[in-house]
Amino acid sequence: MNRRNFIQKAALAGSVTSILPSLSNEFQTKPLDKVRLGFIGVGHRGRSHIEQALFSSDVEINAICDIDPSAINITLDQIKKTGKKAPAVYAKGAEDFLNMVKRDDLDGILIATPWEWHVPMTLAAMRAGKYAAVEVSATVTLQESWDLVDTFEKTGSHCMILENVCYRRDVMAVLKMVREGVLGEMTYAHCGYQHDLRGIKLNDGKSNNVGVEFGEKGYSESKWRTQHSVDRNGDIYPTHGLGPVAHWLDINRGNYFTYLTSTATKSRGLHKYIVDHGGKDHPNAKVNFKLGDIVTTVIQCHNGENIVLIHDTNSPRSYSLAFRAQGTEGIWMNDGNSIYIEGVSPKEHTSEPDAPYLAKYDHPLWKKHAKSAENAGHGGIDYFVFRGFVESIKRKTAPPIDVYDAAVWSAISPLSEMSIARGSSPVEIPDFTRGKWKTNKRIFGLNEDY
Ligand SMILES: NC(=O)c1ccc[n+]([C@@H]2O[C@H](COP(=O)([O-])OP(=O)(O)OC[C@H]3O[C@@H](n4cnc5c(N)ncnc54)[C@H](O)[C@@H]3O)[C@@H](O)[C@H]2O)c1
Repeated sequence: MNRRNFIQKAALAGSVTSILPSLSNEFQTKPLDKVRLGFIGVGHRGRSHIEQALFSSDVEINAICDIDPSAINITLDQIKKTGKKAPAVYAKGAEDFLNMVKRDDLDGILIATPWEWHVPMTLAAMRAGKYAAVEVSATVTLQESWDLVDTFEKTGSHCMILENVCYRRDVMAVLKMVREGVLGEMTYAHCGYQHDLRGIKLNDGKSNNVGVEFGEKGYSESKWRTQHSVDRNGDIYPTHGLGPVAHWLDINRGNYFTYLTSTATKSRGLHKYIVDHGGKDHPNAKVNFKLGDIVTTVIQCHNGENIVLIHDTNSPRSYSLAFRAQGTEGIWMNDGNSIYIEGVSPKEHTSEPDAPYLAKYDHPLWKKHAKSAENAGHGGIDYFVFRGFVESIKRKTAPPIDVYDAAVWSAISPLSEMSIARGSSPVEIPDFTRGKWKTNKRIFGLNEDY
């Protein structure tokens, strides 16, 4: 069963699922000592979340689900090695997650599957009254972003997008600086996903970064991720950059994205990589990749700020999320690790190293939990994003990154595709809060707990 067939069947079943009782967690009062989780998708990313769960004395892994028996077996071994009890396994095909979400020994479901499966799985979890955590990007289409919001509003079940980059130590220190006005009034932010993924997108699993396969012959992510580069031309992975920036600019809470324009370069990198590594007669050398090598999106915000967002995954390059925060009194730039604050920096028109500022404005969350985070993935941020989900379940509150964040950050992908298809025309960005941005209060980075 592919994802499209599943959606058609799910739509037919919609009248049944929509009358399921709302199990809003807001109505429960007793805090939980333990959180019982189920995991859908235990590939690379799912297993790194499993690792966080295994380190956590307040988390039980009660069920896992995957269509790939080897992913299931590796995960069962991973759990067994810690001496924890074996979870129930759901591995009977692409829809078996529907059986898993019905279990009554699960408080939350964590989803780390290919993008096209995120929303059907998240909706199933929410409709079953569970907290849902979904990997990035949360949605692929605009309708899916609305489906997440509508399902939250109908069921009261929360959904957190697992945007770990929001927890990077530097961007959280910059968040504190922005909130304390160190950079003055914010005017501009720059960010992106600049990561040479050619080896991942064209990985046959036999060799490291010189494979030229994807789809059925591919390995892990190249089985599904690469097809998006064949079919789509837009910023197909916007949230690592946008998440932190959206917090700096209070998006959905006093501010919102109004419209965007996107522009793509020609597409060369993936084809060249195939020819360089597999020869000009390799079957994949005939594939026409739609995705431009570099996609640049400019987002206008209601309060007057501009965001420049870059997607750059098909070229040889160094890794950088290209963060830059700029206001009326100064600028921080991640590339070059520099900062300039007018009247504070020693030399006019000259940046200084950002390290003393990042230390001075170190976020309380990091100050308190740096030790616990030190062995977690991606420099510690995987600890925080997992904790954010678990702590919000325990406290029965909204997660620190919510469904409206998931909806609008992810919607930048289809909207950027639309803009490019229309010759870089401006495209309006829907207000998924339906006006609540005017009164919504900040929820992220407010305390030292989660
Ligand atoms: N936040 C981060 O830093 C980060 C890093 C890597 C990946 N990700 C995200 O995590 C997600 C998964 O990526 P990955 O690298 O683990 O990919 P992966 O291919 O290694 O794992 C995906 C898993 O989902 C399983 N799956 C596919 N369809 C399924 C279905 N219908 N039911 C159950 N299981 C199914 C696959 O068999 C596979 O094991 C993606 O959304 C990706 O963007 C996020």
